[in-house]
Amino acid sequence: MPDLSTVTNGRILYGGDYNPEQWPEETWLEDVRLMKAAGVNSVTLGVFSWAELEPSPGAREFGWLDRLMDLMYENGIGVVLATPTSSPPPWMGHLHPDTLPVDQDGRTEWWGGRQHFSHSSATYRRYAAAITEDLAARYGSHPALTMWHINNEYCTFDWSDEAAARFRDWLQNKYGTLAELNEAWGTAFWSQGYGDWAEIHTPRHAHYLKNPTQVLDFRRFTSDMLLECYAAERDIVRRATPHLPVTTNFMPLWIGQDAWRWAEEEDVVSVDLYPDPRDPLGAQQGALVQDMTRSQARGPWMLMEQAAGPVNWRGVNHPKPRGLNRLWSLQAVARGADAVCYFQWRQSRQGAEKFHSGMVSHAGEEGRTYQEVKQLGAELACISGEVTGSHTANDIAVLHDWHAWWASAQDGRLSSEVDHPDLVKAWHRALWQAHLTTDFAHPEHDLSAYRLVVVPQLYALTDAAIENLIAYVQNGGTLVSGFLTGVADEDDRVRPGGMDVRLRELFGIRTLHEWWPLDAGEGVECDGFRGTLWSEEIEKDEESVTEAAFKGGELDGLPAVLRKGRAWYVSTLPEPEALRGLLGRIAADAGARPVLDGLPDQIEAVRRGDLLFVLNHSREPVSVEVPGTHQDLLTGTAFTDEVTLLRYGVVVLRS
Ligand code: GAL
Repeated sequence: MPDLSTVTNGRILYGGDYNPEQWPEETWLEDVRLMKAAGVNSVTLGVFSWAELEPSPGAREFGWLDRLMDLMYENGIGVVLATPTSSPPPWMGHLHPDTLPVDQDGRTEWWGGRQHFSHSSATYRRYAAAITEDLAARYGSHPALTMWHINNEYCTFDWSDEAAARFRDWLQNKYGTLAELNEAWGTAFWSQGYGDWAEIHTPRHAHYLKNPTQVLDFRRFTSDMLLECYAAERDIVRRATPHLPVTTNFMPLWIGQDAWRWAEEEDVVSVDLYPDPRDPLGAQQGALVQDMTRSQARGPWMLMEQAAGPVNWRGVNHPKPRGLNRLWSLQAVARGADAVCYFQWRQSRQGAEKFHSGMVSHAGEEGRTYQEVKQLGAELACISGEVTGSHTANDIAVLHDWHAWWASAQDGRLSSEVDHPDLVKAWHRALWQAHLTTDFAHPEHDLSAYRLVVVPQLYALTDAAIENLIAYVQNGGTLVSGFLTGVADEDDRVRPGGMDVRLRELFGIRTLHEWWPLDAGEGVECDGFRGTLWSEEIEKDEESVTEAAFKGGELDGLPAVLRKGRAWYVSTLPEPEALRGLLGRIAADAGARPVLDGLPDQIEAVRRGDLLFVLNHSREPVSVEVPGTHQDLLTGTAFTDEVTLLRYGVVVLRS
C-alpha cells in the first residue's frame, strides 16, 4: 500500500494549501519563484475550487488547473490534489436544495460560506463522485501528482429528512429489530417506545432532554456517513492511481469523527493544528495533537495545515512572535511529522479569511513571515534525510475513545463542568510537564508494549475494553484511571453499582456510594494537594490502599487516590502540579522515564528514531545538560555536556 514515504522519498514535505484561483496568472510565476526560494516541495491544489472546475452542472473547466499542474511539475513541486467537494458551487444549492444540510432546529444551512453539503444527500454524492471521477481521469497520470486529499475537514452534521431516512437504514442495520432498538435506547423511559421505523427521526430540537442513546447513535451515524462520503471518493481515486496515497485532514480532537476508525481508511493520516500563540499551554496542546495523530497513523504523519502567523477565527488573533513558527514546526517533526504544511501559501486579499496569515503575508517577500518560512525550509532540508520515516516507541499510552466521549457529552449529567477533552488535556499536560513522552491508544488496542496506561476518563466502555484493561494489569502493566470511568456500557446504560464491577474489583472499590461533583472554582482538600471538579464517596476493599485521602468535609478520610497493586484510581482532578507529581511517581515506579533527566520547565525533549530534539518553549535562553559531545544538525554547532538554547531555540542531535 502507498503511504507517506511514497511521497516523501527522504524529504520532509514542505508547503501548503495553494489557492491560485484567487490570483492573476502573473502572480503564479511569482509564487513559484518564492516557493522554490523557500524550499517548498509540495502544494495542495483544488481544495475549494469546485465552482471554478464545474461552473455549471456537468461543465468542466480544467484548463487553468492543467496549466498549474504543469507549472508545478516544471518547477519540481509535487501536487497534493484535493477533491473540491467540501464547498459545492452556488448552482448546486440553488438547483438542488436537497444537497443542503439542515440543523437541529430545522433551519437550512445555505451556500455563501462553505461546507454546506448534506452527507446524506444522494444528489450531492452523485455530483461529488462525478467531479472526482473526472479529476482522477484527467490528472491521475500527471507527473506532478503525488497524493490525493479528499474533501476538507469533514465536520458537518445534518438533521434533514434525507439524513433521517439514512439514519433509519443505519439503525435497522445495527439493531435488526425495533425491539432491539427500544431495548438499547431505553425507550420505556418517558413513553418513547417506537412501533414503526418510520417514527424515528434525527434527534431534532425537543422540548426537554433528548434520549441520550438516540443522540449517541446519531453521533455514530454522522461519523459513519461522512466516512462513507470520504470512502466513495477515495475508492474512485484509488482505482485510477492505486500507487498514490490518499488522505483527508482531521481537525484535532474534533467531536464529529471517530478518528481511530477513520485513520484505518487512510493511507496517510493528516491533521490541521492551530494552537493559540498567546496560550501558555500552546506547545502542550500542539504536543497532544501530534501524539494523537502519530498514534492514529502508527508512524509518520502529515501536518496538513498550520498558520505561519495569526488565524482569524479567535476573538483576538495574535501573530506568532519571531521564532515560534520554527519552534512549533520542529516540535511536530520531533513528534513524528514527515510533512510540515500550512493554510495557506499566499494570504488572501478578499474573502472571509483575508486576515488569516499565509506563508507569504500581505507584507510579501520582505515580510518577516515569509523570511522565517524560507529559513525554516532550509533547515528542514538539513535534517530531512535523517528524520523521515523514523518512529519511536513510547512507554506510556493515554487512552481515548470517541464513543466514550460522545456518551459523556450529553445533557442530564451530574456536572456540566466535566468536559472530556478538558480532562484529556489535563492528564496529557501532567505527563508533558513531567517530560514524559506518550502515545495515545484506543481502549481495545493491544496495550502490552506499554509500561504505563493512563485513562483520563472513559465514561462508557465495552466489555471487550474492560477485559483488555484487566488483562493488561494482570500481565504486569500499570494502569491509572481518572473518575467516571467504566460508568456505562456502549448503549449508555449505567453499569450496576455505578461503575463496572470488574473495574471496581481491579481498583479495589467495594462500593461507590455517591458522586460529589464540585462547583466551578471549588476545591477539595486532599492529603498533599487540592482536588478540583469532582470527588467521590468510595468505600475501598481490604486489598486496596488509600494513597491520598480527602481531608475535611463529607468525604473526610475517603480515598482521593486509591491503589490496588498496579491499578490506580483517582477520584478527583488533582491541581496541575499535583497531577504532574502523581503521574511522575507512578511512571517512575512503572519504569517509564523522561527522555532526559533534570530538564528545566519549558524545555521539551523528544526522541525520534536516532535523533534527539530539545526545544525551548520560553522566550528566555535556557541551558540544558545533555551528556556527551554533540553537534546540532540544524546549525552545525558543536557542544559538550551542556547546550544553551536561545529564545524559542531548538537543537537536533544524534543520540
Ligand atoms: C481550516 C481549513 C482551512 C482554513 C483554516 C483557517 O479549518 O481547513 O481551509 O479555513 O482552517 O485556520
